[in-house]
Amino acid sequence: MTSPIRWQGDVIELLDQRKLPGEEVWLACASAEDVARAIEGLAVRGAPAIGIAAAYGLALAMRDGPGGGAQPGSDVRSRFDAAARRLGATRPTAVNLAWALERGRRLFEAEAWSEPEAAAAGLRDLAQRLLCEQLEADRRMAEAGAELLAPGDRVLTHCNTGALATGGLGTAGGVIQAAWERGRLAMAWVDETRPLLQGARLTAWELGRAGVPFRLVTDSSVGLLMARGLVDRVIVGADRIAANGDVANKIGTYTIAVLAHRHGVPFYVAAPISTIDPGTPTGGDIPIERRDDAEVTMLAGTPVAPAGAPAENWAFDVTPSGLVAAIITERGVLEPPFDRAIAEVLAR
Ligand code: MRU
Repeated sequence: MTSPIRWQGDVIELLDQRKLPGEEVWLACASAEDVARAIEGLAVRGAPAIGIAAAYGLALAMRDGPGGGAQPGSDVRSRFDAAARRLGATRPTAVNLAWALERGRRLFEAEAWSEPEAAAAGLRDLAQRLLCEQLEADRRMAEAGAELLAPGDRVLTHCNTGALATGGLGTAGGVIQAAWERGRLAMAWVDETRPLLQGARLTAWELGRAGVPFRLVTDSSVGLLMARGLVDRVIVGADRIAANGDVANKIGTYTIAVLAHRHGVPFYVAAPISTIDPGTPTGGDIPIERRDDAEVTMLAGTPVAPAGAPAENWAFDVTPSGLVAAIITERGVLEPPFDRAIAEVLAR
């Protein structure tokens, strides 16, 4: 598995996911602004990876001078606040972003740094810790999730939920790989995930490198596959899980969940505890990111719609908890009723 985030000298390098699978290019970010642009542009993506990258962004913001994130001479607190504001506004749905920035803020308040160098070192250590914690959470999710699968299973997944999305082993992607290694998976169905093709470009790349057998299909094939009995389970990740268990994830997830329900296929969500947002009561309260319409009207830079065609680009949808069979976390597998299971797991 390739982690897409690495600290190199005094910059954070991100494996530029816009360029995969064609090119493996590392994007150097020397300031919080660089990181914010990388998140907005999806050079780094996937809820946990976004949060970890943002935490590194806080550390970079403590520097001043050209290429640094801060106004020369500004005090440590205003550097922190400006960077947290900028980074926090990059993508609204993935709650891991707000969660990681809040971890940074709590540390910042507790340490009361006055020197930028000390703050930068402390915040960089925190970002590295978040990366390690994510790896450990991914390991546990992979173990717990693989137990839910049975030998011979054909598992459908959506978007990209592997190492590229978390910096560790992945959420649903980690479960799929662990299940394959344990003889509990026959193959994975990978849908393309329009408009930006995270499935075709990223999941196919990762599974191919890991030697996991898979077939790539168009998003609109899912109904046919299920009607023909070719899908045994669905596993997806999440960008935010509300307190009642409603799940926001990449656009198209809800469609798959409805089809899975219609065909009696168990629908699982794998997500770390940091993706559960107790402050969001239901899925209806989750802000849904809307992105540039050009992502819909163009494909890899080529127009696929008439010039000026009006479009809408909702990046995520919400799957009601009633369609979810289980939520796989690093603290175990949650089962319905999810409001109670979530309250209990968060209280641990
Ligand atoms: O827009 P993206 O590519 O950041 O969307 C990513 C997803 O929807 C993933 O399924 C989600 O972040 C969970 S995987 C760790």
